[in-house]
Amino acid sequence: MSTRDTAAKNWDDREIGVRPEIPRNRLPNQKKQIPKARPRAEIEPPLKLEIVQAGNSVLRQLARPLSLAEIAGKEIQNLIEAMRACMREAPGVGLAAPQVGLPLQLAVIEDREEYLKDAATEYLRERERRPVPFHAIINPALTEMDDDKVEFFEGCLSLTGFSALVPRARRVRVECLDEQGRKKTIEASGWYARILQHEIDHLHGGLYIDRMHTRTFTSAGNWTEFWKSKPISEIRKTLDIGSV
Ligand code: CO
Repeated sequence: MSTRDTAAKNWDDREIGVRPEIPRNRLPNQKKQIPKARPRAEIEPPLKLEIVQAGNSVLRQLARPLSLAEIAGKEIQNLIEAMRACMREAPGVGLAAPQVGLPLQLAVIEDREEYLKDAATEYLRERERRPVPFHAIINPALTEMDDDKVEFFEGCLSLTGFSALVPRARRVRVECLDEQGRKKTIEASGWYARILQHEIDHLHGGLYIDRMHTRTFTSAGNWTEFWKSKPISEIRKTLDIGSV
């Protein structure tokens, strides 16, 4: 997920058993775009990753789980480091492996203090946004802990220059493996819960545009010009959005 819903920028912005094979007919360009195994030299640092944009079929595939042996291996460890660098450079607060062309159940998350330092207290308070240290989530399973949804504008590094109002659960629980392959349960609320939902959607071929109020879809510039300073309730009324 992009940092674009932050004030730091000018416009705010399963458990594994068997590895399910991805049906070949869903991977027409697999050989070309997402090689199953990169040659070792290609995955050793400095591994420079590129973020793919909407339209690339890898963003619409179900990513496959990683085995414990893979997680412990040099390639995945190098990949996690490279994804951290890529996310920071973007900058973003979350990055899923499909976004760098790899349909694997892996995402990295980090909401840095410096992204929040210039944001208004009220802005951070209503989003329940707090710093989140860097970590990876692997093979995650997400449970929504609230029936109520909260709505905020969010962006995605694979949909550069756009944003939309997206309803998400305020609280979630995520069962996953960490970067060392240890089982971990994350209970999150607010913006961190939103990041988790956004990234885990990526691992199932989902994008925020599948969940957004379509009438709120906006370019970054127009978000700043027309919507940024308005309360969500007023935006809903202006755009004639029905009940959630
Ligand atoms: Co995204």
